[in-house]
Amino acid sequence: MRLFSARLIISLILGITLVSLSFSYYQVVREKRVLRGDLKRRAEVLGESLVGNVEKAWGEGSTQALQLLVQGSGNHEHLIGVAVYDQQAQVAAMTPALGKMLTVSPEALTQAMAEDRAESSFVQLGNTPVLIFALPLHRHDGSVGGLAIVHDASYIHAQMLHVWRETFLRVLAQVVLIAFITLLIVRWSIGGPIARAALWMKGLRTGRISSRQEMPGLDMFRPLAREVATMAASLSQARNAAENEARLRDAGESMWTAGRLSVHIRTRLGESRLFVVSNREPYMHQRNGTSLKVVVPPSGLVTALEPVLKACDGTWIAHGSGDADMEAVDAQDCLRVPPDDPRYTLRRVWLSKEEEEGYYYGFANEGLWPLCHIAHTRPTFRASDWQHYEEVNCKFRDALLEEIEGMDAPVVLVQDYHFALLPRLIKEKRPDARVAIFWHIPWPNAEAFGICPWQRQLVDGLLGADLIGFHVQSHCNNFLQTVDRAVESRVDWEHFSVQRQDHRTIVRPFPISVDLTDDKPVDGDNQGFTYTERAALLRSIGVEATLMGIGVDRVDYTKGIPERFLAVERFLEQHPSYQGKFTLVQIGAPSRTHIKRYHDLLEEVEAEAERINLRFQAGKWKPIVFLKRQHSHDEIAPYYRAADLCLVTSLHDGMNLVAKEFLAARRDERGVLILSQFTGAARELRDALLVNPYDIDQTANAIRVALEMEPEEKQLRMQRMRKVIRENNIYRWAGNLITELCEVRLDTKKGDAKPIDVLRAPAA
Ligand code: G6P
Repeated sequence: MRLFSARLIISLILGITLVSLSFSYYQVVREKRVLRGDLKRRAEVLGESLVGNVEKAWGEGSTQALQLLVQGSGNHEHLIGVAVYDQQAQVAAMTPALGKMLTVSPEALTQAMAEDRAESSFVQLGNTPVLIFALPLHRHDGSVGGLAIVHDASYIHAQMLHVWRETFLRVLAQVVLIAFITLLIVRWSIGGPIARAALWMKGLRTGRISSRQEMPGLDMFRPLAREVATMAASLSQARNAAENEARLRDAGESMWTAGRLSVHIRTRLGESRLFVVSNREPYMHQRNGTSLKVVVPPSGLVTALEPVLKACDGTWIAHGSGDADMEAVDAQDCLRVPPDDPRYTLRRVWLSKEEEEGYYYGFANEGLWPLCHIAHTRPTFRASDWQHYEEVNCKFRDALLEEIEGMDAPVVLVQDYHFALLPRLIKEKRPDARVAIFWHIPWPNAEAFGICPWQRQLVDGLLGADLIGFHVQSHCNNFLQTVDRAVESRVDWEHFSVQRQDHRTIVRPFPISVDLTDDKPVDGDNQGFTYTERAALLRSIGVEATLMGIGVDRVDYTKGIPERFLAVERFLEQHPSYQGKFTLVQIGAPSRTHIKRYHDLLEEVEAEAERINLRFQAGKWKPIVFLKRQHSHDEIAPYYRAADLCLVTSLHDGMNLVAKEFLAARRDERGVLILSQFTGAARELRDALLVNPYDIDQTANAIRVALEMEPEEKQLRMQRMRKVIRENNIYRWAGNLITELCEVRLDTKKGDAKPIDVLRAPAA
């Protein structure tokens, strides 16, 4: 720092001196020119006033008159004297003061006489700098003499010295002042902040402070701070992962971590790469005035897959659905994400309005979504939607084929109900690819699925995969029963596989999860929220309460949000002592609102919250706060941590990751999970209070039980559930899926696949 300041100051001094000297030099030269010009003009004026009389006296040959004229030439400022010369350049008359200085006729005079015009020059006479101004004199006989007027020019020299002295003093003062100010600036604006930044970085390095804690008061260094924080977060993750690995090795456990998954994938895949295809993209770019804003969409699928992609730097192919998505990609429609810390590639696929309408809103979300969820919303099947569904599946196949071109044995993980046809479409072109599809939503029983007019095509498309994954065993069973009914094939119930023509597909449950591997407390969040912190959080959303529940969902009719509100109402009705105390904070991200059923549901949920609030609210308390907007993970975290209970009341759900995210957030081992028995998560989380969300009384009672549960009991349940998700985390999910997929024996060589006539009748 000292060396830096010294260098800075020396550079400044040199710079200022150089600039000041250049300016001063220019000023001195200008001033000198002005003063000399001025003196010359005086000499000219005097010369003109004398020349007539002098010529006359010289013409008359009157030496005495000449002498009188030169002596009487006046008392002009700076004038030393005047001399008259004859045609031989001999002195004819001269001011006595000049006699001692001007011993020979000056050069200017000789020139003036020779060229017959006025001449002037600055010369040195002895020690005195002078101006000699010479004029030719004419006599009637044609002979030419000369008049020399000599001025003292030493005052010009003195003036120049004065300017230089002033300049020196000014430069000196400036240098001292600027050096002083620079020192202050360096100390206050750079030295201080750098010292604070160093302290902050040391805190990050030693793990005393979290990377989420901002660098203190360093506006100027904010971009640097962001980079350092990201780097620190990666370092801290790496450190935690290493500690975790060591701990696990020590304990003889075999837990999955990001590090282990990444090594596992590299070993399994060898030269191959991992490709994920899903409809929803992990990052959407949206226009925000003149800048772009990055949004992470509310999707369980995105939450689950992001850590996997980060761990193994694969390529994620998805629909580019943000209004500014096109502005953020390169010529190949790709970009590296996450934007803050790029770890994998996102390839965007563009869909037209009609395609999105038919494939996404129509067939996927008005057809397959209600078909697979038993939530009593009737599926709508339109031929035009189906056509778009087929077309978009082909579009994603083409995008994927482009990405895997020239690559040997790529590994492709297709995601969800948007792409039932994709596995077969890929295999037809690239039988050497290992293809798995994971179905994130439930698979209903064969009768229920059988109402879909295109069930055979869907099942056949799926059976193109080498591996099909569901969250739970019962969805696998339902799927195999559907296969049995829908297409010609051989179902092997013992090994849970299907043989269709030459191709074998295995079907397995892989319960998806969240990333709970790094269990080191961050910012003391193992302490839990204090009452004051929770009160402040609730006040920030306009309510006062002492007990709090949390619900986080996309506003979807499968999530049982109205049923949850009814349960809160029943609870307050049956236990009035909780009125004025318990509030449910419902975070609801509007979803698929383009579809009427979703649009109506949003209104219904709002109206229901309002009705219940009107019935009970008093003072600053109300039973339900409905936060109708999408919240980021960071925004949701404090609510998870502050809540006494979390309500997950899905009417039917493949897994439900909100339940697992809530558990992951509770490092303090407090809080109770109330969980619908119709979620996949309910199979694993037996220590939750399991409820049937249609049974309003049961859910209302679960709220009371949760609020009145002994702290020891809460802690025990929470510890057991956290152990389940720590062990069965998202890395285990991906690790198992990829292991299983890589062990599949591929049955066909590239280009050998034969298209199957899916409309052929199945075996009886
Ligand atoms: C469920 C589906 C996902 C989907 C998510 C959000 O979790 O299984 O595929 O991404 O809902 O729905 P959206 O339609 O907004 O993608």
